[in-house]
Amino acid sequence: MRCWTSIVLVLAGCGSSSDDSPGVRPAGESLYFSKGCAACHGARGEGSFMGPPLSNVPARWKRDELARFIADPAPFVERDTRLRELASAYRTPMKPSPMSETERAALADFLLSER
Ligand code: HEC
Repeated sequence: MRCWTSIVLVLAGCGSSSDDSPGVRPAGESLYFSKGCAACHGARGEGSFMGPPLSNVPARWKRDELARFIADPAPFVERDTRLRELASAYRTPMKPSPMSETERAALADFLLSER
């Protein structure tokens, strides 16, 4: 974990980031594309016919819950009416996405820092 953090910080040092939390954004952002999130949620989280826009994420999600949701949405959708309605508005509900805990956390941080 400690190692990972410093690797990320080194990478962040190479790019220019206007974000408050440097180090988190580059890893999370590339995962957003490599894990296929952009296919449904759009390159900028603007949404598409396959998935809702990812706006207001910080208002709706706590970091640890978001990290768990990303890996396995079903249990959250089951007990959250808003998510259920959202899921039924799209062709296919969001599927579980296999990834490591570090990846989930980086993605959650990215989504929380983004908008
Ligand atoms: C197959 C299309 C698809 C893919 C791929 C996908 N999603 Fe989703 N996503 C959805 C749909 C549909 C919903 C609505 C709720 C549900 O179905 O669980 C959703 C809901 C969400 C939400 C909750 C939005 C809210 O209003 O609270 C977040 C956050 C999210 N997705 C992030 C991600 C991330 C991060 C990835 C990549 C790991 C991803 N999604 C991959 C379709 C997708």
